[in-house]
Amino acid sequence: MKNIKLLWTIIILLLAFSGFLVNKFISGNVTPSEDGRTNVVLTKDERNLVLSEMRAFLVSVQGVSQAITENDMVKVAQLAHKAGMAAEENTPGSLLQKLPLGMKKLGFGTRNKFDEISTTAKTTKTTKDTTVLRKQLDTLMLNCIACHAIYRLPEPK
Ligand code: HEC
Repeated sequence: MKNIKLLWTIIILLLAFSGFLVNKFISGNVTPSEDGRTNVVLTKDERNLVLSEMRAFLVSVQGVSQAITENDMVKVAQLAHKAGMAAEENTPGSLLQKLPLGMKKLGFGTRNKFDEISTTAKTTKTTKDTTVLRKQLDTLMLNCIACHAIYRLPEPK
């Protein structure tokens, strides 16, 4: 009897703990922001890493856009690939944990869209019609706008 009670206690504790982990995974490390957005609370180093990735995003969008204008499909494919999922390789898991699920979705969604642009550029090497790529880049940038409208990264005190 005693053993069964102990077993149940362990089961309940494990369930509570896994519930806590799932909740953490979904909500991330957040607080409300005074400007109506959601603060994602990171350490100084984590924040610096995300912001440097952001500046790299802007460089990538400019580079891909210019390469589309110049009709240089090899360059489009290269730059877009660099900004795609390949860039996530070095993101620490401890940082990902702190991002709310919605932010992770928008972030990975943006990476995937860069990969799609890279694929399109590879398969449309010969065509002069860049409208498809332009549209893909337009849609990708809606992700930048959406995420910035919802989340901010407060400077650690
Ligand atoms: C998953 C969410 C997300 C996506 C997607 C996203 N950003 Fe950001 N970005 C942020 C957050 C959060 C900040 C910090 C904003 C704040 O604190 O007000 C930021 C900041 C920036 C900054 C300022 C960097 C600095 O040094 O202060 C730039 C530039 C930027 N983003 C560009 C982009 C571009 C370009 C894209 C799309 C290709 C993009 N971002 C997509 C979340 C995102």
